[in-house]
Amino acid sequence: MHLTKEEEKMLRGEHGEVVERSLRLLVRLGEIYNADRMIPVGSVQVAGVSYKSIGDPGLEFLEDLAAKGARVRVPTTLNPPGMDLVDWKELGFPEDFAEKQLRIMDAFEKMGIMMTATCTPYLVGNLPRFGEHIAWSESSAVSFANSVIGARTNREGGPSALAAALCGVTPNYGLHLDENRRPNFLVKINSELKNNSDFGALGYHVGKIVKDKVPYFQGIKNADVDQLKSLGAAMAASGAVALYHVESLTPEAELMDTSGLETIEVGDRELGEAYEKLNTGKDPDIIILGCPHASLKEIAALACKVEGKRLRKPLWICTSRVTKNAATRMGFTKLIEKAGGKVVADTCAVVSPIERMGYRTTGVDSGKAANYLPGLCKQQVVFKSIDDLLEGQVA
Ligand code: F3S
Repeated sequence: MHLTKEEEKMLRGEHGEVVERSLRLLVRLGEIYNADRMIPVGSVQVAGVSYKSIGDPGLEFLEDLAAKGARVRVPTTLNPPGMDLVDWKELGFPEDFAEKQLRIMDAFEKMGIMMTATCTPYLVGNLPRFGEHIAWSESSAVSFANSVIGARTNREGGPSALAAALCGVTPNYGLHLDENRRPNFLVKINSELKNNSDFGALGYHVGKIVKDKVPYFQGIKNADVDQLKSLGAAMAASGAVALYHVESLTPEAELMDTSGLETIEVGDRELGEAYEKLNTGKDPDIIILGCPHASLKEIAALACKVEGKRLRKPLWICTSRVTKNAATRMGFTKLIEKAGGKVVADTCAVVSPIERMGYRTTGVDSGKAANYLPGLCKQQVVFKSIDDLLEGQVA
């Protein structure tokens, strides 16, 4: 692999031990995938933030890196931690968990990483342009950046994303290259998709079939940004889809040739089966929305739905701190709280320890959350549209 003079200096340790080790990891990765060179990245998104996912070994690794002077070289944003960093006590997060989580955040902050604490960095200031090379590791954000924006990233692991942040480069392979961005599966939709949960059910179904391939959708008549983030998140969770195209909607779709591709059709029956598989529970103890993190538009819509009503069960809508602040300024947080719900910032259902907080059955409208909650949070799941989840839960 060709390395620049600067990269060779890094490898010789002239920029310190942390940079040397990080670049070695990236070079090794590049060699495995036959990369010809390193490419500079415009930004990095680091996942593996929740104490629940990385535990004590992860915490010690990060504290060690920070103590050795690790500093990011490019704008780097951070995935959700396992709790609301401000209201964790009030929401009932365990003290011992909070102590470790705050140490993790501290280590990341020392490295110069922006404390965005969200899986939707593109909604809070880390917005790449079309064609920009980036190194992101949150699977739903990877899917969104590649597919909806047309930026270029592989699905990085936590360590390789952090290494890219510390070196400012990533190996040139996979989805950074034109030839790997072509579709290799055609998905024809014969159903009317109405809401986030329909897009989540579709994503769950297609991800299971296409695994890590690049699907090209025909027949999706319309979809807003929130529905596309829901679709991509579910496909990345049930499969490993990092890029998809939607005819007439996503930016690279019209550049793609779909002739001769293996084809599947998805209609009401397949979507119904996906709903059936994902519904493992009946009566939720709590409803948790915002997976991926809710946009301001989604919080506004929820505020309208619950305004003047009283929720019978706890309800969280998870979002970034930046979006929560905007929602509070607009009065949406107050409306949701008046109804008995919470706008929970920073964290989400999947990365927080909800199983330790007494919840057994969770209601969600997200295909990704429905896919992960049974395994990662020991939850039974009620997977429906927001309207159906709220039915019977508001007085
Ligand atoms: Fe984001 Fe958590 Fe869902 S990180 S995509 S809200 S599982």
